[in-house]
Amino acid sequence: MDGARSGNQTAGSTRREPAGTGEKVADWADGRLGLYGLAKANMRKVFPDHWSFMLGEICLYSFLILILTGIYLTLFFEPSGVEVIYHGSYVPLNGVPMTRAYESTLDISFDVRGGLLIRQIHHWAALVFVTGMLVHMMRVFFTGAFRKPRELNWLFGWTLLFLGIITGLTGYSLPDDLLSGTGIRFADGAILSVPIVGTYLSFFLFGGEFPGHDIISRLFPVHVLLLPGIMLGLVVAHLILVFYHKHTQYPGPGRDQKTVVGMPFLPVYMAKAGGFFFLVFGVLAFMGGIASINPVWAFGPYRPDLVTTGAQPDWYLGFSEGLIRVMPGWELNFWGHTLELGVFIPFSLFPLLLLALGLYPFLEAWITGDKREHHILDRPRNMPVRTGLGAAWLALYAVLLIGGGNDIVATHLHLSINSITWFVRVSFFVAPVVAFLVTKRVCMGLQRKDRDKVLHGRESGTIKRLPHGEFVEVHEPLAQDQLFTLTQHEQNPPYEIGPLVDANGVRRPVKPRQRVRARLARVMFGTESHIPKPTVQEYRELTSGDHHH
Ligand code: HEM
Repeated sequence: MDGARSGNQTAGSTRREPAGTGEKVADWADGRLGLYGLAKANMRKVFPDHWSFMLGEICLYSFLILILTGIYLTLFFEPSGVEVIYHGSYVPLNGVPMTRAYESTLDISFDVRGGLLIRQIHHWAALVFVTGMLVHMMRVFFTGAFRKPRELNWLFGWTLLFLGIITGLTGYSLPDDLLSGTGIRFADGAILSVPIVGTYLSFFLFGGEFPGHDIISRLFPVHVLLLPGIMLGLVVAHLILVFYHKHTQYPGPGRDQKTVVGMPFLPVYMAKAGGFFFLVFGVLAFMGGIASINPVWAFGPYRPDLVTTGAQPDWYLGFSEGLIRVMPGWELNFWGHTLELGVFIPFSLFPLLLLALGLYPFLEAWITGDKREHHILDRPRNMPVRTGLGAAWLALYAVLLIGGGNDIVATHLHLSINSITWFVRVSFFVAPVVAFLVTKRVCMGLQRKDRDKVLHGRESGTIKRLPHGEFVEVHEPLAQDQLFTLTQHEQNPPYEIGPLVDANGVRRPVKPRQRVRARLARVMFGTESHIPKPTVQEYRELTSGDHHH
């Protein structure tokens, strides 16, 4: 009798009939990989449930769909800059010179079975993937899920977002149609603006002067192998860390830093996740089937001397386009060199904008000095400054997106493109501040509402007339679990420098960074940023007497 079978018997099985094929395969694998032990330790792991935890799954499934559809496209796409004359099924382009890359994209769209559908699913999946990542990241941001011990996983995720955007850029540059060539031209302009090395970098990338014949064949391995390979590794690491740290959960009764309330991984979570994968696949296939995206045949092949109006990058790069479009065309000339600030400043701001978000968890950890682990999520309203900063970042992103589509906005809304540009220039500075202040106020209002609810109960909708004629609404006390949810959050005093002179009256040295930290801590956690939650005494005083109507 082999080890696996005896393991089965010691597990208390009383069944005597011979093992089925599935069991035999499982035993075989267990004998070599130790699967039973692994499964026993992990398969019943509890996962908390909340709709917002599905956002990460949307990223995962759209990434898988991207890989599956990408493999199919790779079978037919030819990344070649060789010039050919088109004689394929799309008659309007008959006799037009183009690269083999563009020709093979037309072939995929018109001659390969299912080719157009797969191309469209691939493109829609890319849009959903990046959207999913951004929304998932904002969920993690607003709930503080990035706090210890998840800072590394935040960085893994952030890198995925950055690489996802770059992978998208390399992908839509491949077909070599007029739109994609315009995108590469844009990237070339940005590279050329880099002081001193810009021209060299451009020549190096394009194998000579733009556009050359090499760029498609160079972007191809980057798009289909290098970036997806790195991303796949990062996704696996990301998920292993989610498993290892265990998922965070929203505050509620029975949940604390040590106890997770939810459903077991197998079968409940797996069944849900499996179903959800097919749902995401179904929706993407439906979109790919009915909604045209990137109809490259309508744009024609790339020619450096042409550009269409309405040329847009995919939405996630719209903000970098917006930065460039609204920036004044500043230029410095000295010693025979030109510094193209009108392009270089926005080009540098683009990664900085993303970097600000990536580094935020470390800034917050430094300000709080909190070294504890956090497995219970914050309710965004209880962290008004953080929530406000997130809203400000999103507002800036949205404003720049408008800037990136200024021609589309102008033609669709019959507005002057110059007014839109000025609107975006002003909003670039104003919108984030307004978004921050409004969001912070809303959060404070919601905190006040929570406090009132705890102390005075829920409005029941029942109106009562008192003996002296006054009408009052009856308030019902909250249930214990609601009281817990509304009051479980911590309200720690902010970091302070302490007395500036010690007990002997000697001045204590205070470093500038301590001052900055204390100042930021006051802004984030001081009295201006929270409504004190009710104390037990306040609650008892109000609820013991006849204070409830
Ligand atoms: C390929 C892209 C990504 C995939 C496939 C992915 C997948 C997932 C999944 C399935 C989860 C668990 C469910 C959930 O909390 O939604 C998760 C959690 C997490 N993700 Fe991502 N994610 C991606 C990108 C990102 C990005 C862009 C960030 C942030 C910069 C991020 C940060 C996190 C963090 C910190 C957690 C732990 C959250 C918690 O335990 O509450 N992820 N991710």
